[in-house]
Amino acid sequence: MCGIVGYVGAQQANGRALDVVMGGLARLEYRGYDSAGVALVTDDGLATAKKAGKLVNLTEQLEAHPMPPATAGIGHTRWATHGAPNDVNAHPHVSADGRIAVIHNGIIENFATLRAELEAAGTRMTSETDTEVVAHLLGGAFEEVGDLTGAMRSVAKRLHGTFTLLAVHADAPDVVVGTRHDSPLVVGLGEGENFLGSDVAAFIAHTREAMELGQDQVVTITPDDVSVVDFDGAHVEPRRFTVDWDAAAAEKGGFASFMDKEIHDQPHAVADTLLGRTDTSGRLVLDEVRVDEAVLRQIDKIIVIACGTAAYAGQVAKYAIEHWCRIPVEVELAHEFRYRDPVVNSKTLVVAVSQSGETMDTLMAVRHAREQGATVLAIVNTHGSTIPRESDAVLYTHAGPEVAVASTKAFLAQITAAYLLGLYLAQLRGTKFPDEIAQTLDELRELPEKIQAVIDGAGRVREVARSMADASSVLFLGRHVGYPVAMEGALKLKELAYIHAEGFAAGELKHGPIALIEEGQPVFIIVPSPRGRDSLHSKVISNIQEIRARGARTLVIAEEGDTDVLPFADEAFFVPRTPTLLAPLVAVVPLQIFALELATAKGLDVDQPRNLAKSVTVE
Ligand code: G6P
Repeated sequence: MCGIVGYVGAQQANGRALDVVMGGLARLEYRGYDSAGVALVTDDGLATAKKAGKLVNLTEQLEAHPMPPATAGIGHTRWATHGAPNDVNAHPHVSADGRIAVIHNGIIENFATLRAELEAAGTRMTSETDTEVVAHLLGGAFEEVGDLTGAMRSVAKRLHGTFTLLAVHADAPDVVVGTRHDSPLVVGLGEGENFLGSDVAAFIAHTREAMELGQDQVVTITPDDVSVVDFDGAHVEPRRFTVDWDAAAAEKGGFASFMDKEIHDQPHAVADTLLGRTDTSGRLVLDEVRVDEAVLRQIDKIIVIACGTAAYAGQVAKYAIEHWCRIPVEVELAHEFRYRDPVVNSKTLVVAVSQSGETMDTLMAVRHAREQGATVLAIVNTHGSTIPRESDAVLYTHAGPEVAVASTKAFLAQITAAYLLGLYLAQLRGTKFPDEIAQTLDELRELPEKIQAVIDGAGRVREVARSMADASSVLFLGRHVGYPVAMEGALKLKELAYIHAEGFAAGELKHGPIALIEEGQPVFIIVPSPRGRDSLHSKVISNIQEIRARGARTLVIAEEGDTDVLPFADEAFFVPRTPTLLAPLVAVVPLQIFALELATAKGLDVDQPRNLAKSVTVE
């Protein structure tokens, strides 16, 4: 939560610092949009501007009151924790002497003590934030040690909680200093300029060369240098990496919203996640493995941990991995796992699924699992993020940057990666023959085209969605892998359209939820393939009849050619034939489009729904 950008370059004359910082904030706004602000180091000292509300409010203020050119700057887009989202609490915050400006992502847990200490010494606070405390502490430390890096080190050691901090000083026009503890910060390496950002989206318009910053490190960037030390001042050599996203991928590319664009990106996200997964002998490989394969062979339980949409991807993974590998798989929300004394040992594989790689609940669960001796494998989209760095093995999804707060293409890429993991474990443990694995991979490779067909044929979904802008409640039913699809469909509608929506296991209907059905209640039903096993198809058809008899308006998602659903469907949306376990990749797409279109018809901001943030870096 909160987006952070820092820039330093030598091109003072064209005022590039402000442009770079504002451009970076635009790309990071998904991290928070309660307020935004910038600080520049100019010839006349620090200049700051900040404004409550979305970034556009700050942009308008800067047009009305332009800032002077500068070589260095920092910018922040906020998701409020301490203090209301107003102009005063917006970042940056400035030290008492007005010489240091600081921005912050995270929560300083001991801020009340520090604030009391500062107030007792006569410092007057102007905001309700924990961040302002840091600004004043930095001011005091700078007076003692005489340089910003040293001041940052000494202050960081005093802080409890989570933080990424960036600071500039009025007397240092070509320096930005940053630090991190349990919150994200990456470095972008340019020519004659360098960047800092909460994630690489902040600077991919300018460079793809990047550097990871480890826990409890302080980075100092100047136009020509990047130096990193730990909190005790010892020099650290950080890992460099090249970002494989391009800047265009983080633009709307002609679509009305990032959400619409990212739904259209999905065939690519799945295809790219499948690319390059086999070695020269045709065996599946992971991206990074820092654990012996023998350990993975001995695993006797898998626990998937994740939050939000990623947790629903985990639920799909359970069906596939258990079926292919015959290993029991539990799926648990990361925040629940962390605090319930889970049974975890050295034979447990914990799979952490996260688009951002920064979700604090998931990160804390990863740490807890490793402390208990588990092996942790991360399925993550964002290179340079914390969760893969702290895991034993990594499988990256290649969805590209996902900007809309509600996840779409990352979900499909996570499911795809989970299938790859299942097949990898089946290969490693010999629970499937190589030709069976190859066949499933071939079936997966057909998915991008099928997803494209769903997107291209979604005209009726869009029409129906627009006609339902006044709906106050929509229910979603699914069975087997259709159950997590139903829950994801409901989540999308809640997030985007602020409509009451719930996903149920269709078999559970008669145990309670059927009481909700009354005349006209819209219900989506995800119907399994009639070619699947265990007569699930006919059971779901019966469920449709049960709710229809009680007045429900049935909106059915079924496989092409499944005419059995027609007599009971008020609306039928067909998706291409797909093997049962892989079907979520096509079945969820109409539900995403439905939520997008309905929310758009209500005039809502689908990219930045109220109260949410994309990357939740506080517990
Ligand atoms: C937030 C976002 C969701 C996302 C969840 C997990 O709640 O709004 O869209 O699914 O975090 O995020 P992650 O980055 O860990 O996948």
